[in-house]
Amino acid sequence: MAILEIRRFGDPVLRQTCKKIPVIDESIQQLIDDMIETMRANHGVGLAAPQVGVPIRLTVIELRDGTEPYVLINPEILKRRGKRIVTEGCLSLPGWFGDVVRSESIVFRARDRRGREYKMSATDLLAQAVEHEVDHLNGILFTDPGRLVSPDTLHKAPARGELPVEAEEPEATPVA
Ligand code: NI
Repeated sequence: MAILEIRRFGDPVLRQTCKKIPVIDESIQQLIDDMIETMRANHGVGLAAPQVGVPIRLTVIELRDGTEPYVLINPEILKRRGKRIVTEGCLSLPGWFGDVVRSESIVFRARDRRGREYKMSATDLLAQAVEHEVDHLNGILFTDPGRLVSPDTLHKAPARGELPVEAEEPEATPVA
């Protein structure tokens, strides 16, 4: 496994519409393992393949609640219900946070790393992470119009260690 370089805001790969994965071969398995390791090393709850420079429809999500990471190959959001405002960040814009409109709940479909199709309903952090990652696959970032509630909510959090522990926003806010 390897920790991959995360592409930053401004890199054109983050604006591509990613291609569907036709065959889940050994190179995809390797990429999944590397993406999980990269996500963990960067304290993210999710990571999309374009964020490591590969414009294909693959994302990994880990809620850090002891459950296995989710692997979403060719994910599709089938239903969205309700709206809520959440604060979120992105590994491609390190340190930046903003208030974003996300769904209360979603239903999505994807393939797992063995190619098996699964369908799930999700709420809370998982729904937020799936919406954030599927946006990445479509070249959309959380700072885009239509996602950010208002540009005024975008702010840079102080680096870790500059605030008391209880105020460390990066620990409390999902970054994907
Ligand atoms: Ni992101």
